[in-house]
Amino acid sequence: MSRTAHVALLPGDYVGPEVTDVARTVLEALAPQADLTLTFTELPFGGAAIDAHGEPFPAPTRAALADADAVLLGAVGGPQDHPWNALPREQRVESGLLALRAHLGVFANLRPVVVHPGLERLSPLKPEVAEGTDVLIVRELTGGIYFGTPSHADATRGVSTMVYERSEVERIARVAFDAARGRGGTVTSVDKANVLDVSQFWRDVVIGVREAEFPDVTLEHTYVDAAAMKLASEPTAFDVIVTGNLFGDVLSDLAAVLPGSLGLLPSASLGGDVGLFEPVHGSAPDIAGRDLVNPVGMLGSAAMMLRHALQAPDAADALDAAVQRALADDPTVDLGGTRGTAAFRDAVVDALAVPTPARTPR
Ligand SMILES: NC(=O)c1ccc[n+]([C@@H]2O[C@H](COP(=O)([O-])OP(=O)(O)OC[C@H]3O[C@@H](n4cnc5c(N)ncnc54)[C@H](O)[C@@H]3O)[C@@H](O)[C@H]2O)c1
Repeated sequence: MSRTAHVALLPGDYVGPEVTDVARTVLEALAPQADLTLTFTELPFGGAAIDAHGEPFPAPTRAALADADAVLLGAVGGPQDHPWNALPREQRVESGLLALRAHLGVFANLRPVVVHPGLERLSPLKPEVAEGTDVLIVRELTGGIYFGTPSHADATRGVSTMVYERSEVERIARVAFDAARGRGGTVTSVDKANVLDVSQFWRDVVIGVREAEFPDVTLEHTYVDAAAMKLASEPTAFDVIVTGNLFGDVLSDLAAVLPGSLGLLPSASLGGDVGLFEPVHGSAPDIAGRDLVNPVGMLGSAAMMLRHALQAPDAADALDAAVQRALADDPTVDLGGTRGTAAFRDAVVDALAVPTPARTPR
């Protein structure tokens, strides 16, 4: 029997609606062959919502999310000189993003970083070093030094506090171990346990979760400084990285440059009742409305939605495979290919008709 799922679509600003349109078209083409019935509701969010409702995450959008099985977000924000940026901080688009994540209760941010076959030349690393990179960074999103107290600054002193509760470490560790089971079977926990008590605590809790619940997964530990060096020199050494909020913030941005284009990177934020799926890139006002935006990060996010929120792993594999085929055939302009956004979308839809090869764990 066909399964039904309801997707809240938050297009956002500038290229945001362009990439969510691509995702919707591709998902609508995929759904029948995956025996899925997908319905979509478009909701104002970000700058578009400021214009329509006076705030970035307005009450009607908030209320409509209650009916959603997943949230697919384009991108929000405007160019630096846009009047949205002159608003008080709590009314700006960034506050809307934070409020959305808090509303959904998502504590785990998943960022897969893949150097796609045939696109190694785009990486800032030597092609032979970049080749085969396929790492999933699992970042704790709602705890750690960004939220710990005390936190204050005056003319003589600044203080921030890194705190982790056992339950916070356990739940993010479970997300990472669970993800590793569907991939290469190895988790690298990144900390600074040689210096920070909170990191030693983190390490001990992660070890405990593995021993009690995931003995089949291999666990390694790396200090954050060594992890940064290794990501830039031997990224294929990693399968799944799990780390706290601050270290994850830095490492995920470092890793984001490895594929060679921001437009390639998807993300998922999980942990609440409803997951949030969005490309890593911003609203790219410089290329908006010109058929230039690369939708691969958005389509990867849609595949993560199928896998993590809609329990449709085969459909996710089919979508990922179709994107790979379209990339291999002729990528988008930003990757040195000839296809604009619409032509790439059509190529992915065509590629969906080709049977998906069986998935091989990496
Ligand atoms: N989660 C989000 O919605 C999010 C994330 C980052 C930035 N932003 C916002 O986006 C706006 C623009 O920010 P920015 O310019 O610093 O970052 P950006 O990611 O929008 O763009 C950086 C550069 O990468 C290019 N680029 C980005 N995505 C691309 C894609 N899919 N295909 C091809 N090229 C792509 C852009 O053209 C630009 O030259 C700002 O308002 C910023 O606050 C939003």
